[in-house]
Amino acid sequence: MDTVVSGIRSTGNLHLGNYFGAIKNFLKMQRENNCYFFIADYHALTTHPKPEDLHGNIKQVLAEYLACGIDPEIATVFIQSDVPEVSELYLLMNMNAYVGELERTASFKEKIRKQPDNINAGLLTYPVLMAADIIIHKANKVPVGKDQEQHLEMTRRFARRFNMMYDVSYFPEPDAYNFGEQLVKIPGLDGSGKMGKSEGNGVFLADTPQEIRKKVMRAVTDTGPAAPVQEPTEPVKNLFTIMNVVSDQDTVKFFTEKHAACEIRYGDMKKQLAEDIIKFTDPIRTKINEILADNKYLAKVAANGAEKARESASKTVREVRKIIGYRSF
Ligand code: TRP
Repeated sequence: MDTVVSGIRSTGNLHLGNYFGAIKNFLKMQRENNCYFFIADYHALTTHPKPEDLHGNIKQVLAEYLACGIDPEIATVFIQSDVPEVSELYLLMNMNAYVGELERTASFKEKIRKQPDNINAGLLTYPVLMAADIIIHKANKVPVGKDQEQHLEMTRRFARRFNMMYDVSYFPEPDAYNFGEQLVKIPGLDGSGKMGKSEGNGVFLADTPQEIRKKVMRAVTDTGPAAPVQEPTEPVKNLFTIMNVVSDQDTVKFFTEKHAACEIRYGDMKKQLAEDIIKFTDPIRTKINEILADNKYLAKVAANGAEKARESASKTVREVRKIIGYRSF
């Protein structure tokens, strides 16, 4: 049985890409492993959310996670800032993280480009906090997408460096969790690239049917296939990719054949796609709203999760302090 840690930033609502690219696989993973799922609300501060937004976002993401089937009875589900032990480990790990390697991190360089007016030290040390999140539970597996691979590599390096520096084999070097099957990358509705929170190209699990219809009907396509048996262009392929995960196979086959025969009407395809997305998201949306209305339940989940996470985290911090040389008189 592996110990798995996975964090999600509390910066917005979950979309279909989050679901099919990760969460769907977590439902099985949580039954087979000792899983820690948390909401990374310290990391969220790197973009300076307004205080009134921060809490609402955390609550929303927690409710959405639970609505998707993340089970707090099986996994440890918690909020990062409820486990202050991680900030101590972060401080300690920062002493062995070098500014040069942090400056070379791809995500940091991207942030410099994206938010040149807010290049804070938290952005620079983002990978150190992420490493602390992982190693504080001595995790050996982390489910990561492409964009987080470098962060996981750095986590391995920090763990190894700690072990070497103190001549211990204390922290495991965590590997990527292998789902056994190719992870589906869900594209956005804007013609190219993957579905994202900030790209404005996503369908959110909490979207109403009206919003979903509007978004899908506006999705980018092309002017139609020109010659029979032509490969769909990227924007159209993207719609097929989404259709593949939400529609039944007969529907996909029907529109694939229509496309190949140059008889496709994208309007019809989009209508069908929108309805199939709604069929999938509607029960989840209902659940999200039920959970959001039950503050007592949310509070209980967060408190239980924090207690379990703190138990594991405080043990690690206690042991790490001792390894480093902090002793009581
Ligand atoms: N950096 C991750 C992301 O942006 C979120 C995250 C923070 C995380 N800490 C983590 C993921 C620990 C896995 C493990 O998606």
